Amino acid sequence: MSTLLIHDCDPGIDDAVALLLALGSPELELKAVTTTHGNVSLRRTTRNALDLLAFAGRPDVPVHAGAAAPLVRAPVYAPEIHGQGGLGTVTLPEAGQPVQAEHAALALIRLAQAHPGQLSVCATGPLSNLALAERLQPGVLASLKEIVVMGGSLDTGAPKLGNVTPHAEFNTYADPHALRVVLESGADVVLFGLNLTRQVRVTRERIAALSALGTPAAQLCAGMLNGYLDMIEVRDQKVGALHDPCTVAYLLRPELFEVRSARIEVHLNEDEQLGMTVLAQGEPNVRLAVSADEDGVYALLSRRLG
Ligand code: RIB
Ligand code: CA
Repeated sequence: MSTLLIHDCDPGIDDAVALLLALGSPELELKAVTTTHGNVSLRRTTRNALDLLAFAGRPDVPVHAGAAAPLVRAPVYAPEIHGQGGLGTVTLPEAGQPVQAEHAALALIRLAQAHPGQLSVCATGPLSNLALAERLQPGVLASLKEIVVMGGSLDTGAPKLGNVTPHAEFNTYADPHALRVVLESGADVVLFGLNLTRQVRVTRERIAALSALGTPAAQLCAGMLNGYLDMIEVRDQKVGALHDPCTVAYLLRPELFEVRSARIEVHLNEDEQLGMTVLAQGEPNVRLAVSADEDGVYALLSRRLG
């Protein structure tokens, strides 16, 4: 039974690994890739999505460019982590296939309506495209099967540490208003915050094992992840984490994660807590991933990239 999927992303090194994991998984039928501002500009994230699909021999998967900026604020980028090009030190051959003319938000609405209740979305960047779709077509997000989001950082015992500010995770900080729209949409959201993704660490040993698989996809991922660690170490951050691939791993093998119902709220005040996500009382609005089987995620990634 195929899972119909849209990958909404801002490639981005870990977005790229997530996309290659999806492309290496026959259970997933990738209906489209939609791109957003985020780690680098929309122009660059879109270029990277096209080039990654061509690299994987899948230029047939349509790429729809979306929001060049958040709903309200100005874009924030992360070239210090992902490099100016967005894939670290890796540059890919330029793809031949063009980006689609249809905006990402309109593609998402069209595909959701074509597959009511059957379409899953992995959202591994700022949520601007999803929020725009909801404003254009209220109820569209709730008509999706599920939205697996990499975003937020929750104090579920793990330190509530942001990675772009002391309180906020990058995707949420980049468009906090979009997360508010998604959380209020009634959609079935599975949320992978830093408290979860930091349990799936990127280490030189893990990268060497991926590289030893010898396939082009595994070696590309190893190259990008080495560049990612180089950038992290320069900024003396403690550990790199395999953030975005956790969302695809969940779709493939949900049993690798423990999730629990929760109510999450996001701070929108323009102060030092902007973009902070907190556990709140009241009606649950997400299923929150709280623990991960790190070895299981890497075993899955190795099998699919291998
Ligand atoms: O905070 C991690 C998230 O921000 C990941 O999606 C990474 O790609 C960046 O977009
Ligand atoms: Ca991302």
